[in-house]
This record gives sequence, structure tokens and C-alpha cells, in this order.
Amino acid sequence: MAAALRAGKAFARGFSSRSVDGFVGAVGNTPLIRLTKLSEKTGCNIVGKAEFQNPGGSVKDRAALGVVEDAERRGLLKPGGTVVEGTAGNTGIGLAHVCRSKGYRCVIFMPNTQSQEKIDLLRMLGAEVYPVPAVAYENPANYNHQARDFAKNLPNAIWTDQFDNTANAQAHYVSTGPEIWEQTEGKVDAFICATGTGGTLAGTGRFLKEKSGGKTQIWLADPPGSVLHSYIESGGKLKDRSGSSITEGIGQGRITNNLGTFVDRLDGSLTIADEKSISMIYNLLDSEGLYIGASSALNVVAAVELAQKLGPGHTIATILCDGAYRYQSRLFSKKWLQAKGLESAIPEHLQKYAVLD
Ligand SMILES: Cc1ncc(COP(=O)(O)O)c(C=O)c1O
Repeated sequence: MAAALRAGKAFARGFSSRSVDGFVGAVGNTPLIRLTKLSEKTGCNIVGKAEFQNPGGSVKDRAALGVVEDAERRGLLKPGGTVVEGTAGNTGIGLAHVCRSKGYRCVIFMPNTQSQEKIDLLRMLGAEVYPVPAVAYENPANYNHQARDFAKNLPNAIWTDQFDNTANAQAHYVSTGPEIWEQTEGKVDAFICATGTGGTLAGTGRFLKEKSGGKTQIWLADPPGSVLHSYIESGGKLKDRSGSSITEGIGQGRITNNLGTFVDRLDGSLTIADEKSISMIYNLLDSEGLYIGASSALNVVAAVELAQKLGPGHTIATILCDGAYRYQSRLFSKKWLQAKGLESAIPEHLQKYAVLD
């Protein structure tokens, strides 16, 4: 029996050098997709990191794993512990998966204005969800503060603090950055993406900047309603905000600690209107067969605009953050787009894809 068990364990360990261990092993190493039509159009290589292929479905799996493993390494989280975060989106999904795979309790606080689908999904993934009143960050009842206080009062618990815990950016410094460098064989002239916490841009950008000896340009892409574009354009003097955006997970009102690790080394920033992002969602579906969310589409628009700025012969990398599945009832609904004044943003010949009422 013991020998059989030993043999079984050895078999399990040596299963195949090409397999990975569990959910955790499947995070990262995503393909880098060359967007063929846009590359032809610009004379550049426009490449997107297929982060929707992470096992939890988004780029945030990397950050979720990064903050949990950092807490483990620092001895803050021990077996049977609890992971707490304030989030309404992809980070919560990533954390719920990571917690199940590592045997932790996962507790998520979110504003009670979020859709029932989001709450249900997190609960299906085994997380405890506390919808709390949607109040401003300055109010102690804000969901982020409630998450922090919940963890503080519990033994063997951490608040992962995705915005200001720089283990988030570090996860991209050790994974996303090196992967893009390797996949482009070091020939990446520019990297551009939007930020929520700033982890992806700061971590990936810092790695590529260092590895290229400063040659790779790193740019921020910003949706309307965010202060970051004005902050970067003005050299850190202004924090102007105008308009609002239908994109989710990106745009920011402050310089988070994660973004702060790199913000002064950014080469520039582009602001992208929602009309362009919506049009790109439909274009990528029609011409590349890719079904991606609005933040990914915004990133691709930004990569194309940067390619046009730099001229033909350059390689521009960006992030395809997640799929459209989480947003389809909005992005493919004529009624919803109409209500947002965005129906006409869909090119005439692509209106056929907006099949939902
Ligand atoms: C869909 C989507 N895109 C982009 C981002 C931004 O990534 P980061 O937080 O690393 O800046 C997020 C973050 O939650 C997201 O959910």
C-alpha cells in the first residue's frame, strides 16, 4: 500500500514536463497574439497579450496570485487563513480561485450597486460576499475600509489591498514583462495599456524599461473620467478630469502606490474616447475573431494610435485584459448602447453583431 502510494505520488509529480500544477501553475504564460489586420494597416507589429486565457479569465489572476504568495512568503498568511479584499471585479474572481486552490477562506466586500451576476459568480467560486452601501472613499464605511477593518480584527487574515500593495506590480515585473520580452525576442519598441490599480502598467513597464536599457517606450492609455492623462501630460502638476466612461476596471482618480513605482518614467499618455473602444470591440470580433472586453479594446486602439505616432516598422505590445463574456449584456445590447449614446459608434457593417435587445 505504502509503496503504491509512493509510486502514485512519484507518478503525479512526474506526470509530464509540459503539464502545470493546478490553478496556480496555470496562471501566466499566455500567448502573445499578433493582430494581423491592424499590423498590416499600420506597418507595425501590433501584439496583444492574451490575458483572457488565464484560468480565472483575466489579467488580474496574476495580481491575485502575486499578493497572496507575497503574504505567504512574509509569514502573514498561514494554512487555513483568510484573504480579504474590497473589489467588484476581476481581482475578486482571481482571489476566489486562488483561495480555493490553496485552501484559504476568501471574503469580498463590494458596493451594493453591483450586479447580482457579479455577487453570484463570486459566491459560486466559494467566496463570502458582503455588499455594503456605496459611499465615497473618504467615508469609513467605504467597501475598501470595511475590507481592511475586517482583516485587522481577525487572526491569520490579510487585506490584499490591490491598489497600494506593490506585490501587485511585482507580479507583473516577474511574469508579464519577461514573457513579452521573450515572446518578442527583445524587439518590443513600445508597451501601452490602461490602468486601474496600475499594477500591470508599472510592473510590466519597469521590467521592459530596465531590460531594454531604456529603449522600450512605456505609455499609459486612459479612458475619459480618469485624472491620469492630465497628470502625465502636465508632468505631475494637474489632476483634471472630464467626462465618464463605460469601460470597467480602468481609470483612476489618484496615483496609487503601484502606479507610483513607475509613473515618473512613463514616456507619454493617450486618452481614448469610448466611441473608439466600442468600435474596436466589434472590429476585433469581425476581423480577428477575438471577443474581448472594453478595456482590452481601448488598449488596442491606443496601440494603433501609438504605432501611427512612431511610424512603420515598430513592435507595439498591449494587454487583452479579459473576454467580453462578463460584459456582453451591455456591450452587445442595442438598448444599453443607445442609452449611453454609443449605438452609432458601431460601424454600420458590424451592427449585425449587436444581437441583444
Ligand atoms: C478588465 C480590466 N482591465 C484592466 C484592468 C487594469 O489592470 P491593473 O489593475 O493592473 O491596472 C483591470 C483591473 O481590475 C480590469 O479588471
